[in-house]
Amino acid sequence: MEVSSSVDYGYLRQLVFGLSQNVLDPSRDYLFETRLTKVLRNQGMTGLDELVHHLKVRKNPVLERSIAEAMTINETSFFRDGRPFELLRSDLLPKLIDSRRNARNLRIWSAACSTGQEAFSLGMLIHEHFPLLAGWSIRIEGTDICADVVARAQAGCYHRIEINRGLPARFVVRYFDHVGEDWTVKPEIRKMCNFRQANLCASPLPFNRSDDRFDVIFLRNVMLYFSQETRKTLLAGIHRLLAPDGILFLGSSEQPADPSIWTPVLAGGTCHFRPRQPS
Ligand SMILES: C[S@@+](CC[C@H](N)C(=O)[O-])C[C@H]1O[C@@H](n2cnc3c(N)ncnc32)[C@H](O)[C@@H]1O
Repeated sequence: MEVSSSVDYGYLRQLVFGLSQNVLDPSRDYLFETRLTKVLRNQGMTGLDELVHHLKVRKNPVLERSIAEAMTINETSFFRDGRPFELLRSDLLPKLIDSRRNARNLRIWSAACSTGQEAFSLGMLIHEHFPLLAGWSIRIEGTDICADVVARAQAGCYHRIEINRGLPARFVVRYFDHVGEDWTVKPEIRKMCNFRQANLCASPLPFNRSDDRFDVIFLRNVMLYFSQETRKTLLAGIHRLLAPDGILFLGSSEQPADPSIWTPVLAGGTCHFRPRQPS
């Protein structure tokens, strides 16, 4: 797609970076044209040049946030990159459950959860394979910067096409109610999951250390849009929120920015990270 020479894309890129820390490459400026159509329509504007001019003349935090949110990439699916889920089922969760048997408490964070499939996959996995946790307190927190995707996660309602991506047929039957073209997650899984809007690059992070720390954190496929500095700050915060024997999963092409505070563990055809404690 052609980009217009009259639009100050540098201004838009800087605006998105300032609010979400997402670094957008100039070669992808055409994405502003496609992703901001709805924002322009809602504002009654005809083009990006008018939008940029409006923002330069008058600050509009609500509009600025909606631009940053519209530029996020929300791609996700149930049991995405299956191996972390399989490793949790076969090895990591049984060990965690054993060590938490007195507290009877498990906390998991799907950071940058998009439309919720990652959090619900964890809920279904636990429900399906660990029935002895029925009397435990299980909290799966899902957070994302984008209000639209958080609202979709809260609704727990998916189109047939989303259901067909990655979800074993028996899980569809067991954990979803079917209405027309849509499938809604059943209450027993939804009640394990809580979703809210939060920016991973704002300080402080959406949880604090005085709450119970997390046993497992999924921080997948979000840091690739962040600068090295932003990744370092975020992972230092994540380190503080993870239990000393907790587990961090990153996306399959992602690495911790500061390897000195993480121990990589290769197992089950994937890599997860354990927080290193100061000696
Ligand atoms: C590609 S999706 C990944 C979803 C899921 N973790 C997965 O791997 O399937 C990336 C998500 O990160 C969110 N995101 C981008 N910048 C963010 C930020 N600064 N804080 C929180 N979420 C952010 C986007 O809105 C998007 O939903």
